[in-house]
Amino acid sequence: IGKSIIHRQITSSTQDVAHQAAIDGAPHGTVIIADEQTSGKGRMQRQWFSAANKGIWMSILLRPQIPLQTSPQLTLLCGTVLAATFEKELNVRPFIKWPNDILINEKKVAGILTEMQAEQDRIQYVVVGIGINVNQEKKDFPEEIAQKASSLKMETGTSLDLHKMIQEILKRFEKMYDQYMQAGFAFVKALWEGFGFKIGKDIIVRTMNNERKTAFLGIAEDGALLVKNDQGEKEKLYAGEIEWFK
Ligand code: BTN
Repeated sequence: IGKSIIHRQITSSTQDVAHQAAIDGAPHGTVIIADEQTSGKGRMQRQWFSAANKGIWMSILLRPQIPLQTSPQLTLLCGTVLAATFEKELNVRPFIKWPNDILINEKKVAGILTEMQAEQDRIQYVVVGIGINVNQEKKDFPEEIAQKASSLKMETGTSLDLHKMIQEILKRFEKMYDQYMQAGFAFVKALWEGFGFKIGKDIIVRTMNNERKTAFLGIAEDGALLVKNDQGEKEKLYAGEIEWFK
């Protein structure tokens, strides 16, 4: 991971650059990094603010040999890598809000957008987009997200070296990815659940067309969200947003 790095000072979205690189035959582990994105993409068609040199805006191209149904595991792996890196390097206690928002002090400091190209039942490639708010101050965030978003600097009180952080993340990513390929998802699941936000609590799961209150049990072997349904049985959910009660 990261043997081949494509750097852009400014680009629309590193996701787009990564997709094009994939189509052009770029190898597994190619990393695309931009100083600034003019149309950074978040999950659920949202916009991702990606100001110049304030954060880490990067996409990792993967060509995994895993069954299509297990692809959510990659997103959870990536979230675990980020949380573990922040914990180790910054001495903070991060949480992962399912599936993959990284929270510090209940504010979002990083997000992951996984996009996949599949043909029939085979994964052609996966692009894992990582956005980390690093050196922003409160005034740098647009008003509509300032309530919920934060940066590593705001939560730790110190400016951070973007390059060093990128290196630490890629190093851990490679290690965890290799271990996952050899040993499977179980250890990632255990680590993820160690960082999991509101496990064992009641949460609200909101999807396109409904909203329900349910108990959050953890994650399933395939990476799904595991909840308790009204009959008291375990149920797996694959999409949606979770919310919680204060
Ligand atoms: C989210 O939490 O909604 C996911 C945010 C993902 C943002 C990153 S920044 C690098 C990559 N390029 C994009 O356009 N988006 C992802």
